[in-house]
Amino acid sequence: MDEGMNDDAKSRAAHAALNELPENGIIGLGTGSTVKFFVDALADVVRGGRNLTGVCTSEATRRHAAELGIPLLEDAGPWAIEVTVDGADEVADDRSLSKGAGGALTREKIVAYASKRLVIICDAGKRVVRIGEKRPVALEVLAFGFRQTMARLGAFGKPTLRDGARTDAGNLLVDLAIAPLDDPAKLDGELRSIPGIVETGLFLARSPVVYVAHEGRVERMG
Ligand code: 5RP
Repeated sequence: MDEGMNDDAKSRAAHAALNELPENGIIGLGTGSTVKFFVDALADVVRGGRNLTGVCTSEATRRHAAELGIPLLEDAGPWAIEVTVDGADEVADDRSLSKGAGGALTREKIVAYASKRLVIICDAGKRVVRIGEKRPVALEVLAFGFRQTMARLGAFGKPTLRDGARTDAGNLLVDLAIAPLDDPAKLDGELRSIPGIVETGLFLARSPVVYVAHEGRVERMG
């Protein structure tokens, strides 16, 4: 898929997600290039008079949404979020997700798990049978003792520190290359038990609705 077709697919998935919005209420805003198209579309809906307010999963999304005049809530919460719309790096057949290539995984997980519903938008390149087929698992890691943490991660796969990258919270990002996962929940539990791992990019418990843009059509999963 070339860049133009890819943008077209992202835009079509983003517009399909507008069907999932309530008339009024609080919307979780994910992070990434596909979500940018959704935020643009949401701004049009808000300009049209709907009373929709956003909760942002990153400073990048906050800047973009604020520029477009979307009303936004403070980061501290609590929020009564009707639906969150976010992207993904991998979507498996059972709608489990791998996220975090954009580095916002922890905030995205907090917002997704605070939402009544989660809607994922992506192009067909993100579809896999099992998590781990195309992308490493993203991890947010504390800077303190990170070489110790990386050494422990070596038992699960090949960890790579994302050079110079920091999350909005100032933590490090590590990509853990692994074989495709038969039991992602097991790996998630083991990774989360390592001191120094702030969060994993495995989103396993939300049964999202997923809009996947193929050439010429958008598929709704879930
Ligand atoms: C950021 C994410 C993004 O949602 C994910 O990386 C997809 O991004 P894009 O739409 O740019 O492919 O998880 O942490």
